[in-house]
Amino acid sequence: MLNLFSICVIRSVMIYLTVLMTGCAVLSQNRLFRSQPDNTGISNTQPPSAAIASAHPLATQAGQAILQKGGNAFDAAITVASVLAVVEPSGSGLGGGGFWLLHRESDQKQMMLDSRETAPLAAHRDMFLDQNGTVQQRLSLDGPLAAGIPGVPAALVHLSEHYGTLSLSETLKPSITIARQGFEVDHRLLRLLNMRQQAILESKAAAEIFFPDGKPPKPGSRLIQNDLANTLEAIADQGFDGFYSGRIAQQLVTGVQQAGGIWTKEDLARYTVEERKPVTGDYQGARVVSASPPSSGGLVLLETLNILSQFPMSQLDHVNRSHLIAEAWKRAYRDRSEHMGDPDFVSVPMQHLLDPNYARALRSTIRHDLALPSRYLSAPLPEFKHGNHTTHFSVLDKHGNRVAATLSINYPFGSGFVAPGTGVVLNDEMDDFVAAPYSPNVYGLIGGSANAIEPGKRMLSSMTPTFIETADKIAILGTPGGSRIITMVCLGLLDFIEGKGPDSWVNLPRFHHQFIPDRILYEPGAFNPSEIEALQQLGHTLTESSRRYGNMQAILWDRSANTVQAASDPRGIGLAVVK
Ligand code: GLY
Repeated sequence: MLNLFSICVIRSVMIYLTVLMTGCAVLSQNRLFRSQPDNTGISNTQPPSAAIASAHPLATQAGQAILQKGGNAFDAAITVASVLAVVEPSGSGLGGGGFWLLHRESDQKQMMLDSRETAPLAAHRDMFLDQNGTVQQRLSLDGPLAAGIPGVPAALVHLSEHYGTLSLSETLKPSITIARQGFEVDHRLLRLLNMRQQAILESKAAAEIFFPDGKPPKPGSRLIQNDLANTLEAIADQGFDGFYSGRIAQQLVTGVQQAGGIWTKEDLARYTVEERKPVTGDYQGARVVSASPPSSGGLVLLETLNILSQFPMSQLDHVNRSHLIAEAWKRAYRDRSEHMGDPDFVSVPMQHLLDPNYARALRSTIRHDLALPSRYLSAPLPEFKHGNHTTHFSVLDKHGNRVAATLSINYPFGSGFVAPGTGVVLNDEMDDFVAAPYSPNVYGLIGGSANAIEPGKRMLSSMTPTFIETADKIAILGTPGGSRIITMVCLGLLDFIEGKGPDSWVNLPRFHHQFIPDRILYEPGAFNPSEIEALQQLGHTLTESSRRYGNMQAILWDRSANTVQAASDPRGIGLAVVK
């Protein structure tokens, strides 16, 4: 048991660290940048094959066809994302947003394209509270009030104009064709449709698409989306204006407002993507490149790795290793809740969070023989649910260009709302803001003023598209999974460090800790009974997840072996192809 003295010591350290962080210098946010010259010794040789891993076979195949037509990784990313918008409408789409990590081989530029949704201009801090100050979570999850202004259409156009080699009409063609001709409804889509039936049936236009005749589609039947095909065509023909002004914009605004939402034409017209500098760090000889704010993914990942960096991880058994990983996550997710938000609105103390001295101080609060209860790191203990949402895909082309993209409409089928005539399922990312201080969102994530709702602000995300680079290996990985995205990518990365390949990263049983609630969530099979008992004896509470989670899509280019491998998570129906 913790004695009073050790609790006081730990609390003093945490208070000291919090005070230190509040007063620390804030890293300025570079919006546009050239990456620093590569000092990892990575040469510019080209991979022997291209590779794509995505959550749906049709998206992977369409991306491969674009590469074979002479398109580059960025063209393929446009195709894969737009096909996923059609065949995986539960996870991402034109009504959502996301983060695209890019590496352009010709000039070694590395950049994160931020197409995260923004809060509408009429949004305000208390918009999801009733007159008693109680959070009305259905409003931030179901229906058009839950929807931020989408960023994916703008990202497709930006990628095409600045990074691709083919026209948007070529790269969007496969998605338009599949939307018009239909695709076979799979069991996963059906399960998620059933899960979100109530929200979808509340939107007439959504119900007409996904519950024809009021019933769910039959497994194996074809889902046709003509309105979505028309919207994709408008983007192919008119670029940005095809979605953000003109007919589609008018239909979106009218549909949203008639159903109680607050979008205006100005919200759509002023949406912009942002090119941001990714966060980078080193761990055990590998350079890690990942998503920067307004995603928390890269910061939480790197803070975790900094804390773990002085532990002999490879020499530890599963129990002791898992204990240290969970303790590191606890501290990094605590900082997520306290300090992270949209860098255009709040000062995110990035330099300090990634400072090795800060990691050392946090490490000093970790004991090998005892778990520190989260309550001694602060905050109340709400419960949380799990979502199976979002999508990730990874692309490597034969020139060495790379894309890791994690895109989302948040909860499965987002808000469930479709504005009539558009075919676009709108997101419910407004739930990723803090509706009230330390009130948990649907993933149980808490936060304070850094992530409060403000007009035009981007809500904090956990999406973690990541590159790992060593002198001879390059990995591209990411996954959906709400608050668990970061811990899944972290486990994949630690597995990479142990010398394992993408098959192992996507397959390995997962576990998770996010500070609050104070428990290790684990997939069936992640720990055997004696390991569970040993972790409990260290003071951890463990909960087995009702189902396996995540849908990792990963690529590894091994330059010394001159091989490319790719893997798609066996938990999903995706496809990885090396060609
Ligand atoms: N919507 C989940 C996330 O962005 O983290």
